[in-house]
Formats: sequence, C-alpha cells, structure tokens
Amino acid sequence: MIQNKMKRLENKSVFITGGLSGIGKECALAAAKEGANIVIADLNSEITDKVMEVIRKENSKAVFVECDVAEYAQVQDAIHKTISAFGTLDIALNNAGIGGEANKVGEMSVEGWLKVININLNGVFYCMKLELVQMSKQKSGVIVNMSSILGKVGFANSSNYVAAKHGILGLTQTAALEYAPEGIRINAICPGFIDTPLLSNAGISENTELKKYIVGLHPVKRLGKSEEIASVFIFLVSEDSSFMTGSAIDVDGGYLAQ
Ligand SMILES: NC(=O)c1ccc[n+]([C@@H]2O[C@H](COP(=O)([O-])OP(=O)(O)OC[C@H]3O[C@@H](n4cnc5c(N)ncnc54)[C@H](O)[C@@H]3O)[C@@H](O)[C@H]2O)c1
Repeated sequence: MIQNKMKRLENKSVFITGGLSGIGKECALAAAKEGANIVIADLNSEITDKVMEVIRKENSKAVFVECDVAEYAQVQDAIHKTISAFGTLDIALNNAGIGGEANKVGEMSVEGWLKVININLNGVFYCMKLELVQMSKQKSGVIVNMSSILGKVGFANSSNYVAAKHGILGLTQTAALEYAPEGIRINAICPGFIDTPLLSNAGISENTELKKYIVGLHPVKRLGKSEEIASVFIFLVSEDSSFMTGSAIDVDGGYLAQ
C-alpha cells in the first residue's frame, strides 16, 4: 500500500549508528523528513553540532549520543539513552563502518583484521542484540543493517571488510527468522560504491585511475549517491515493505548483475 503525502514515519523513534556522515546522515535526514525522531550514535567530531543542526531543521527532536560501536558498554548506553529520550525504539539502522586496512590475506595485519571485524561486524551484533531485547518487549520494530555488494562477492585486498559484510547478511537472515513471530522485521541493504567520505578515506576519490576503475565496475558507469540508499532505507522501515524480512537488497547500479 503506497501512502502518498502522509509522512511515513510520524513520531517513530529511529536509532542510527554512523549517522554523522555519508549514507547514515542521508538516512537520518530522510527519516526526519518523514516525521521521525532521530538518535545519532557516532564518534564525536568537529562536524557533530553542524550535522545535528541540519537534522533538527527537518525535525526538532534529534539527539546525539557519543558511541564507539565496537565497545559493547557504549552501545548499551546509546540504546538506553534512546529509550529514555523517546520511550520506544521503533527503527534501527546499523550503519557505522570503516574501510580499514587493504592487503592480501597473507599480508593483512591481525590488528587490521580485528579493527574492521570489531567495528563492522561485532558492532552490528552488539547493536542488534540490544535493539532486539527492547523490540521484543514492544513486540514491534524494524531493523536495517548496512551490508554491501561485498557482503555477496569477494574483492581483492579487502578480506576484513568482505568477511564482515558477509557476516552481517548471515546475522540479518538468522535474526529475521528468530524474530518474525514477534512482529519484528530485519533486512539489509547492499550498496555498490557510493560517493561518501569512506571512499576518500580509502584513497579512492582522489586517485583518478582507481576511481575510473571502480566506476567502470558498475554497469551504470557512475558511483551511487547516499540519497539513493536513503530512499531504500525509508522503504524498508515503512509499511510499504510490510511483507519483507530477511532480505538483502542490492542498490548497486547493476554491479552484482554481471
Ligand atoms: N561508501 C560506499 O561505497 C559503501 C558501499 C557499501 C557499503 N557501505 C557501508 O555503508 C556504511 C556507511 O558508510 P559511508 O560510506 O557513509 O561512510 P562514512 O565514512 O561517510 O560514514 C561512516 C560513519 O560511521 C562512523 N563510524 C566509524 N567508526 C565508528 C565507530 N566505531 N562507532 C561509531 N561510529 C563510527 C563515522 O564517524 C562516520 O560518521 C558503512 O557500513 C559502509 O561499510 C559504504
């Protein structure tokens, strides 16, 4: 049932990790535009106040919680603050992630492996574990996990990232099975390469040759935009996708169709 004009997330409380930048920020803005109250859990930085101000312009109730998702106690605190602020946890986007060390498996440092697994995979587990305890009490809730095209196929020199993103899809499917009887839906998004600070941090945006190669991997011959992920996020957390759980949606300009 497509709902026109009506805001689709009116008064819903939405918890977003990594919401200060890139995809997470765009999802927060899109949810605020749909009438939701937002909690951003992220590492504090010089952009925090500015980003929160932009979100509050869309919706006055937006809270920032400093949180490293790789630290279980900090995730506990962030979920606790979300429930204190808004009373319920209706929607969660487990999105925080990094690119991390790029190396062949034999050359990958143990630290580089663990850093990405701790943030990109363990962080998602910590969030889901706590979100699901609350949603289970409510007998309602929707979770979206940010995986990647690299949650479905390999990518040379990125075993840490690829393993974490594959793990997220296994977690998503398993939790979807466990919580479907309680009315909780859990899906994942698998973006292709999206033009965000993550790509600059990985040295892709500034390296003309590498960027051209990455763009060329997508049949549409361009990178994706954060807005193109945010629109799918809103679909997945609204009633428009009420029969979907355990799915992993590719939003990738045709990358995985080849
Ligand atoms: N950009 C892409 O091409 C792409 C493609 C597929 C999937 N993704 C995934 O999308 C998600 C968002 O990526 P993005 O491109 O928007 O990146 P980004 O770098 O623009 O934003 C990531 C955000 O996560 C936060 N973050 C990093 N480590 C954290 C931690 N330990 N605890 C809490 N917050 C932390 C950062 O501070 C930042 O605000 C990531 O999970 C990424 O793997 C990105």
